[in-house]
Amino acid sequence: MALTESLRGAATGSLRSAAGVLRAVRPDPDRPGRVMAAVDGLEHARALDPVLDGLRRGIRALPLGGARDALHGRWLGHPLHPALVQLPLGAWTSAAVLDLLPGQRRAAGTLVALGLAGAAPSAVAGWVDWAELPPPHRRVGAVHAAANGTAIACYGLSLLARLRGRRLRGRLWGFAGLAAAGTGGALGGHLAYRQGAAVNHAEAVSRVAGGGWRELGAVADFPVGRAVRRRVGDVPVLVVRETGGRIRVLADRCSHMAGPLSEGELSGGCVRCPWHGSVFRLSDGRNVSGPATAPQPVFDTRVADGRLRARPAPDRSATAPDEPA
Ligand code: FES
Repeated sequence: MALTESLRGAATGSLRSAAGVLRAVRPDPDRPGRVMAAVDGLEHARALDPVLDGLRRGIRALPLGGARDALHGRWLGHPLHPALVQLPLGAWTSAAVLDLLPGQRRAAGTLVALGLAGAAPSAVAGWVDWAELPPPHRRVGAVHAAANGTAIACYGLSLLARLRGRRLRGRLWGFAGLAAAGTGGALGGHLAYRQGAAVNHAEAVSRVAGGGWRELGAVADFPVGRAVRRRVGDVPVLVVRETGGRIRVLADRCSHMAGPLSEGELSGGCVRCPWHGSVFRLSDGRNVSGPATAPQPVFDTRVADGRLRARPAPDRSATAPDEPA
């Protein structure tokens, strides 16, 4: 009887806790839930800015050479970090399932070790990306990294306990690590989907600009070798009249984090973004240097009666301007 009562009490307590969590995260028509409000608040928490600024300078000063762009994922065409995290998250989630099953001790331990091995390169790529983000993103990113660091520490302790034959302790550290990794993953999702870190900020250009030719002004108004900002429809563009007479038109907002390329530096047929230094070729928009992992949309040009016109160049990877949005 007493046991039944205590089980009933435990079940009621668990239900109350679950209801409390649901209340905290449930959508509210008028305002964000408490969890979302707290995460939004992180974006403006400046207390650690001096530390984060120093860390950022240190990461940017590392002599990584071409490895820096490789870690950003420029060769891949999108960020490398989200791809690398699949290994630790997958391995650790699988280990948690095996930990709940009998006779899977060795397999679970192997997966914990595999996740730890995969966590190192994913963390390195994440920090390199982090150093090229604006301050609100860096604040959330730092907490994301702290949660993931906690997960790595928990799984390190879990592996140690397993190697010493303390399976229960190893499993408990593993579950704690999975909770920390889940928190880190949720914050990573906030960074990407809410704050737009690591997404292509120029993706919508062809749809927003529309498909027709738009006039940008008299050719004589564009000084040779100087960047000029104009608009094609609602899209700001960078116009460069080159020495040989060719006129290049690119979307002005950088694909990395929407920096204004028209305020960047022109050199060797390329433009360098003033915010984080991505370099784009004027002729075809290719990102020859990161952190941008996506190319910059380019525009076709033509001159008639001394006036310049432009329209988005066809891009097979993007939605065509005449397709529904
Ligand atoms: S906005 Fe970051 S490189 Fe352009």
